[in-house]
Amino acid sequence: MIKQEQMIVVSQHKIATNIFRLTLKGQLVQEMKQPGQFVHVRVANQMEPLLRRPISICSINREASEFTMIYRAEGRGTVLLSEKRPGDYIDILGPLGQGFPIEKVSSGDKALLVGGGIGVPPLYELSKRLVEKGVEPIHVLGFQSENVVFYEELFNQLGETHIVTADGSYGHKGFVTNVLETMNDDFAVYYSCGPTPMLAAMEKMYPHKEGYLSFEQRMGCGIGACFACVCESTEKMEVDYLKVCSDGPVFQSGVIRV
Ligand code: FES
Repeated sequence: MIKQEQMIVVSQHKIATNIFRLTLKGQLVQEMKQPGQFVHVRVANQMEPLLRRPISICSINREASEFTMIYRAEGRGTVLLSEKRPGDYIDILGPLGQGFPIEKVSSGDKALLVGGGIGVPPLYELSKRLVEKGVEPIHVLGFQSENVVFYEELFNQLGETHIVTADGSYGHKGFVTNVLETMNDDFAVYYSCGPTPMLAAMEKMYPHKEGYLSFEQRMGCGIGACFACVCESTEKMEVDYLKVCSDGPVFQSGVIRV
């Protein structure tokens, strides 16, 4: 069930250049079911900026009623969010959207998880859930450069992890697809989150595989009411468009026109 709650800040740390990890506590965590869902964050209490910011859920600790999100502080709203300190309250609406289906893989299967930039965080909770199921995750994570790489160690603890940077300052040089080309495709399902060109490249690379893609999109209401987030669907679908906030953000490959 979607809830709105004033959640308390447990911790906030800068973990890379302009990248922050924020942990919040509250009852809303008990509603978080699927990895890949997001929350809509009211970044400031004053009138401006009024809009909420959609931020994906990076990890969930149900026992402690806490969850963590990782975001890039790049606009006025997210910079204000980065100034929140432990003990502050933040207005959260969520959990929102359809996440990654983990029932598509079984114990003993391999799953390929491919993330780009700020699309990497939701793959962390996904990977934890897959490991709990006995699935072997393989992570390929792309970043612009070394100074914005995060969570390499944590992904490493869950499974094979390849880091790629566009400028070659860390890990492999180039795009995630450059690394994928060198790997075999003995995975059952792939899951991906990142910029649309990366998702399009994934579809093109694995047309024969079952895949689930999480789209990044500008949003307004976050709950399917304002049409700010519509995407054109492919001829596979009976409708002409889909809403990323409520029909997604995760869609099966081949559903959204990329
Ligand atoms: Fe309003 Fe999706 S953000 S309909």
